[in-house]
Amino acid sequence: MEANAKKAENRQIPFLDLDALHEPLSEELEAAYRDVVSSGSFILGANVAALEEEIAAYCGTGHAVGVASGTDAIHLALRAYGVGPGDDVITSPFTFCATADSIMLAGARPLFADIDPHTFNIDPGAVESALTGRTRAVIAVNLYGQAADLQRLRALADRHDFLLIEDNAQALGATLGGKRTGSLGDAGAISFFPSKNLGCFGDGGMVITDDEAAAARLRSLRVHGAARKYYSEELGLNSRLDELQAAFLRVKLPHLDSWNLKRRENACLYDSLLAGHEGIVTPAVSDGSEHVYHQYTVRVRERERVREELAAAGVATAVYYPVPLHRQPLFDSALVPDAGLSEAEKATGEVLSLPIGPELSETQVERVAASLIEAVSR
Ligand SMILES: Cc1ncc(COP(=O)(O)O)c(C=O)c1O
Repeated sequence: MEANAKKAENRQIPFLDLDALHEPLSEELEAAYRDVVSSGSFILGANVAALEEEIAAYCGTGHAVGVASGTDAIHLALRAYGVGPGDDVITSPFTFCATADSIMLAGARPLFADIDPHTFNIDPGAVESALTGRTRAVIAVNLYGQAADLQRLRALADRHDFLLIEDNAQALGATLGGKRTGSLGDAGAISFFPSKNLGCFGDGGMVITDDEAAAARLRSLRVHGAARKYYSEELGLNSRLDELQAAFLRVKLPHLDSWNLKRRENACLYDSLLAGHEGIVTPAVSDGSEHVYHQYTVRVRERERVREELAAAGVATAVYYPVPLHRQPLFDSALVPDAGLSEAEKATGEVLSLPIGPELSETQVERVAASLIEAVSR
């Protein structure tokens, strides 16, 4: 009986196995912990400053400013550019709520534009149709680890004079036209939430930008709006990335590229195993884009039934996202185009994310793919 239970447990494929990812780094992580504790410096110390330099160099931007979360990174990036009451900010309805919460936290009004059905990212044509006389910014989410159509959005931003902010929470390490995502807009927001491709052991975030004035304002906004301690100039937050998290992230950052490569290899194997199977749509990769597969998300019909059958076969899956933002009470006051947001609505009913983490073995990918094919063909 016990042996059977053990066998069944071995057959479980978790959605993400952070323990397996961290195990080989345990000595370095423990040493980082001891160094910070013995340094006695816990807030905005040497590790935060060094990580800011390392992330700026990795992304190819002039500046990086550590903050307490990805949510604060988006909110404070908007604030750093003076976006606030009276302004409209356009974004996707098919994203985590934090993208649009941040607009409201800054005091502006969110406005939703539909997504491209192939990439799940905001459609620049829909953005153009959604522009109002008050549009100050567009937040493009690089969803699931792939760049939005940032080149077209950049051209639109230049033509119509609005800011382009990237919500790069899910796409650290991805590129478009050889440039890192997060560096193609006026500012890019990063999340270090534990499950992200580069995650810490709690909450953390960062804003990257080439704009020196915006970076300086961010450094003030994260400490109560006081560029000089005890001299408050504007309303800010207490939003700092802490020293311990920065030290852990510095241990993990050198591994990010190899982890992202492993995610791409897993995705490539899924693509070939699932290709041509009726009822399964595998993720599309845009020209010039290097996807880092924070999620490997397929479309299937009868998603809930398929999901239950996968769970019964020991395969954990996830749904990002089950309800589009414009259908949620918090966003009742957001603007929705007359044409509706039909692609976002359709996606919420069909998307299914499969395990894709770098710790996943080839055999596990094969088992997930076989279980999915079986469930879909029933
Ligand atoms: C697309 C997106 N935007 C924003 C966030 C917010 O990041 P955080 O949880 O670090 O505040 C997340 C992640 O949680 C996210 O996936």
